[in-house]
Amino acid sequence: MTAPSPQPQSPQAQFARDQWYVAAWSAEVGRDLLGRTILGEPLALYRTEDGRAVALADRCVHRRFPLSASRLDGDRVVCGYHGFTYDTTGACVSVPGQQRIPRTARVAAYPVVEQDSFVWVWIGDPDRADPAAVPRAPHLVEPGWVTVSGMEPIDADYGLLVDNLMDLSHETYLHGGYIGTPEVAETPITTEVDEDASIVRVSRHMPDAECPPFYARSTGIEGRIRRLQDIEYHAPCLYLLHSRISPTGSDTPVFRTEITYAITPSGPGTVYDFWAVSRDFALDDQEVTDFLREFNHTVVMQDVDALNLLQRCLDTEPTGYQELSINIDTGGLAARRILAKLAAR
Ligand code: FES
Ligand SMILES: [Fe+2]
Repeated sequence: MTAPSPQPQSPQAQFARDQWYVAAWSAEVGRDLLGRTILGEPLALYRTEDGRAVALADRCVHRRFPLSASRLDGDRVVCGYHGFTYDTTGACVSVPGQQRIPRTARVAAYPVVEQDSFVWVWIGDPDRADPAAVPRAPHLVEPGWVTVSGMEPIDADYGLLVDNLMDLSHETYLHGGYIGTPEVAETPITTEVDEDASIVRVSRHMPDAECPPFYARSTGIEGRIRRLQDIEYHAPCLYLLHSRISPTGSDTPVFRTEITYAITPSGPGTVYDFWAVSRDFALDDQEVTDFLREFNHTVVMQDVDALNLLQRCLDTEPTGYQELSINIDTGGLAARRILAKLAAR
């Protein structure tokens, strides 16, 4: 008998640098400065007059006033305290009361890629930023899909949100009456790990399941359903749940829903939970759109409340607590291993 291999313990997870992270929805970045903190680094985000998203370090070099609380003058940021002015590269181009600008007067400018309605920023060594490495979520912008979305900050370590999303058996208990039915927790999963690409796939295929209100009310299906859940987690940030629903016993029609999360650590014990639900059916039905926005927001808040509570418990427990894992945790444990590896690089 072989000894069980050591399991990665629950968070505090370390942060993986030299990675792309979602800083905002595209629609959140405009001609007003937006402050976001990613991996503990404060950023000020805005859009130039010709529409390009910019991310600068959110601390004026003079006395560290937040640039996100300052104002734009064209494409430049004018510090709201004493007027140091920065261009889109972070270089200071004007200071008050003197012609000479100190050579060190500049703030960091972060590499930015805007893609699939997300503003991605590179946290780490800018020379290593490869825009082609940003993972895709094309359903967020492609025709043929309608999306509802939002963002909720959570006062919990980002590893707790990864755990939560990798193990959907919690739908049955935490989201019963919304998206959970008994079959989700009852049906075993299959897990595949691509270590090189840092992708974890978890599938749960339910051939004959109760139809939860989320799908009954959006698709109009009245009876039982074939429900396929295929998770694809691109560590560290992008999580896709490919969901396909059809009436039990018939292969058509298939209602496809893409559930997208971006998991962006803000700092120790705090995470941005970007969420979206995209559907390929009832595209013009505003009632379905409104229902899914409202309903999914409720589901997200159930997770937010649970993780806030869980983090408070973890914060007060003695060190050395040994948690217990079972089959449902295979995907979450694989994700932890990959995140630990990325953080150690
Ligand atoms: S703190 Fe920004 S100009 Fe003084
Ligand atoms: Fe959940």
